[in-house]
Amino acid sequence: VQVEKQGFRHYMLKEIYEQPGVVRTALEAYFNPNWHAQDNPDFSPVTLSLSPRLYEDLEHIQILACGTSWHASLIGKYLLEQLAGIPTTVDYASEFRYAPKPIIGNTLTIGVTQSGETADTIAALETEKERRANLEPKLQARLLGITNRPESTIAQLVDQIINTQAGIEIGVAATKTFVAQVMSFYFLALDLAFRRKTLPLEQIEQIITGLHQIPTQIEKTLESQANYIEELAHEFTKETEDFIFIGRGINFPIALEGALKLKEISYIHAEGYPAGEMKHGPIALLDTKVPVVAIAMPGSVYDKVLSNAQEAKARDARLIGVTSAMNAQEAAATFDDVLTVPEVEELISPILAVVPLQLLAYHIAAIKGLDVDQPRNLAKSVTVE
Ligand code: G6P
Repeated sequence: VQVEKQGFRHYMLKEIYEQPGVVRTALEAYFNPNWHAQDNPDFSPVTLSLSPRLYEDLEHIQILACGTSWHASLIGKYLLEQLAGIPTTVDYASEFRYAPKPIIGNTLTIGVTQSGETADTIAALETEKERRANLEPKLQARLLGITNRPESTIAQLVDQIINTQAGIEIGVAATKTFVAQVMSFYFLALDLAFRRKTLPLEQIEQIITGLHQIPTQIEKTLESQANYIEELAHEFTKETEDFIFIGRGINFPIALEGALKLKEISYIHAEGYPAGEMKHGPIALLDTKVPVVAIAMPGSVYDKVLSNAQEAKARDARLIGVTSAMNAQEAAATFDDVLTVPEVEELISPILAVVPLQLLAYHIAAIKGLDVDQPRNLAKSVTVE
């Protein structure tokens, strides 16, 4: 498939800018616009059309993925546990295939993959399918794929897929496919929450309303931050060798993803850490030469992340904060640089918080003159073990 850059310098940048459209398409595909909590509907707001067999009597969900898809899966776990109340595990497919977990009944297994071709993810799903094949019904495999490639190998292997609607991605560092995978987890978690009655209808509606604002909010983030982040990026292109990203709760995976983006394309070593764990190791690395990026979205762990960031500041680290525009002034007291996104509920904040981090990684790599779309040693689709 020939995809053009349409005036963007790199595919990655084009794909970052495609994210509002990708989210819009997914919202149109998977939410029923006629669903309103006050009508007390007996049908789900979500139109994934998954077969009841995948859902029935679920007691456990296990997610298998690699790379950026593994990060999306960690957000998925948070949503499935906190919204739908289903215990959920996330494993690296490359680990699971050689050490599968003990078999639990009524388990939904989800493979998440942008390419639909990752060898480890396919092997992990095959392992699951084979070892459960001749067991009693409740132990049998129920396999769901989350991918933007409905024609891929994974789609042939699983019972059903959710097409994330992201389309094909060219840049090796995943951006729009990540955001689309995370969206799929909102759909899945809300559908399960409705069916299992784990959330009041009003709360479901509130989350759906919030998700509908995301496309415009990503656009606003891109408009308001792009130039600032490009400027800021210049400061890290010469001497910076290490970065630390910290986050907590639903935004801990965003710290991991921010660090991965930077490593992949700028070749700067970066670590993502749960902010509260910094004192158990990474804090020893800190000095003036190691910038710390803190994802400090308003919500349940905001104060905690700020105080973790202040611990880093006490070690003279340069501090970059990602927060909501509303908190920017207050955050400026702690952070040397503040990257902002529009005001958003904590539960859906990861989809916005990741955008400035994508831009930061992109601009650092682009200024360094690196091959952003085809970084050394990496491939878009890893079909070998
Ligand atoms: C490769 C890509 C990453 C991707 C990972 C998993 O390493 O470069 O961007 O996250 O594979 O790929 P998948 O296609 O399974 O999501």
